[in-house]
Amino acid sequence: MDVADKYDKVVELAKRRGFFWPSYEVYGGVAGLYDLGPLGAVLKNRIVDKWREWFVGKHQDIVVEIETPVITPYKVLEASGHVRHFTDPIVECMKCGRKFRADQLVEEHAGIKVEGMSIDEINKVIGEKGVRCPTCGGGLSDVRLFNLLFTTTIGPYSQDVGYLRPESAQGIFTAFKRVYEAFRERLPLGIAQIGKVARNEISPRQGMVRLREFTIMEVEFFFDPENPSCDLLDRCDGKLRLLTSDLRVKGVDKPVELSAKEAVESEVIKTPWMAYWMWVAKNFIKSLGIPEDHTYFEEKLPHEKAHYSAQTFDQLVRISRWGWIEVSGHAYRTDYDLSMHMKHSGQDFRVFKKYDQPTIARVEKVLINKALIGKVFKERSTDVINAVSSVGADVLKTLLKTDDEYIRIGEYLIPKNAVTVQEVIEKVSGKHIVPHVVEPSFGAERLLLIVLDNSYSEEDGRVVMKLPRDLAPIQVAVYPLVSDDVLEQKAKQIYEELKSCGLYVVYDDSGSIGRRYARADEVGVPIAVTVDHQTLDDSTVTLRDRDSKAQIRVREEEIVQKVLMFLRSSVAITQL
Ligand code: GLY
Repeated sequence: MDVADKYDKVVELAKRRGFFWPSYEVYGGVAGLYDLGPLGAVLKNRIVDKWREWFVGKHQDIVVEIETPVITPYKVLEASGHVRHFTDPIVECMKCGRKFRADQLVEEHAGIKVEGMSIDEINKVIGEKGVRCPTCGGGLSDVRLFNLLFTTTIGPYSQDVGYLRPESAQGIFTAFKRVYEAFRERLPLGIAQIGKVARNEISPRQGMVRLREFTIMEVEFFFDPENPSCDLLDRCDGKLRLLTSDLRVKGVDKPVELSAKEAVESEVIKTPWMAYWMWVAKNFIKSLGIPEDHTYFEEKLPHEKAHYSAQTFDQLVRISRWGWIEVSGHAYRTDYDLSMHMKHSGQDFRVFKKYDQPTIARVEKVLINKALIGKVFKERSTDVINAVSSVGADVLKTLLKTDDEYIRIGEYLIPKNAVTVQEVIEKVSGKHIVPHVVEPSFGAERLLLIVLDNSYSEEDGRVVMKLPRDLAPIQVAVYPLVSDDVLEQKAKQIYEELKSCGLYVVYDDSGSIGRRYARADEVGVPIAVTVDHQTLDDSTVTLRDRDSKAQIRVREEEIVQKVLMFLRSSVAITQL
């Protein structure tokens, strides 16, 4: 089968059988917005559940899940850097007014990769190469940066700007202290979140691959930067396929294969927990049925990384039409986000790390002239004193070094002479640290597309969607072999029984049995139960495996148990 063809067939099947289709089609559709149909919604939920099992359930001693709002106040995304940095370059046709992503346009029409170039450099390439509007041939405007945040207002006041969150991570960072306190004040601590995010892509292409709204599944994993070791690395079997930035710069496109532990020891991956979560990601993708050699991790070059990341690996998976596409990002976010929120909110995001034994040490103490604060801030003075106390001596020392008369902490402008940092000798029982963070982050709809693309196969001109058994939206089909009242009644009874066990079951008595098998194979129903005349004689039915087409006969009272065993394992039907 031609691979480009395959993708078109998957998309056609997805629309026809109810996996996905472009949203608002009746009004012409909107690029980057897709509906999930009845089968797509269930398939996505199964992928999400599997992600939850790998990233939360299996790690429930160190990872918890939370849910925070999609609507995010301006201040949060200003502090995180998204208001300034979450941009793509845009260029406009001066004749027809169409707008294009400048880097894509230049790459396609001048054959030059401009990622990492400054705006001036991209403008220069456009001028030198004579790049024009691909639609009408008109001249192009200067390139500018376009912010990808969807803007809204919160409440009736137009000055209260808010955004739809572009990542769920900021809800996690701002809630970190509460979760840390509620979850026994221990590091390491992973906080997971699954939910919708929105990104106002300039011109999304590639259908379901690049969406303006999608479900993100991410973990912010907080650890002690002074003790970053990961006790789970020893259990990471197998190899990670890693295309490092060094290899990429040399033009090598073949990944090296290292165990997670080797990747840390050789400093290919900068911090142990990041290697661990990449190993989990590899296994999660494998559990979706993707062969191991269809996935690898590619390190981002410095100019490709997000503003908050000290090191990023993208996990790529091969898909028929588009080649290698990103399914997850693994970023070492250090203390960037917590420190920024600490600075902008004036709240203390540090955690207290207790020493085994108290020690006598020279420590830097923050001294606050409370009388002066009281005089300046009056009834707000307690808040101001709390805000100053929550900022570490190191940060205060840096703030105090400037020539200004005031220091800014959160919303307060505080006279410098109200704050001093002094060294004293005292008994200390521990210290405050700002945790570091590694983040694995996935998009669920993209995984849904990949799973369908990977599972699509044709046999004798018929489609068989070879979905992993535990992902199939419809798990069992029940048929009477031929049209017959008694067989139909028996089949319906079995259908009801399977449904009552929590399974998604389809009952189908229309058309020949061959056509019914074909209809179910096309949407990946893994197992079928067929009632025939022998059932009436000896109370046995046929179980048929979608992939091998093998059939076995089982007693009626064994159906539920055998079907469940089949769906929960990869055992051959003949071995049930
Ligand atoms: N939090 C990951 C991302 O924004 O892609």
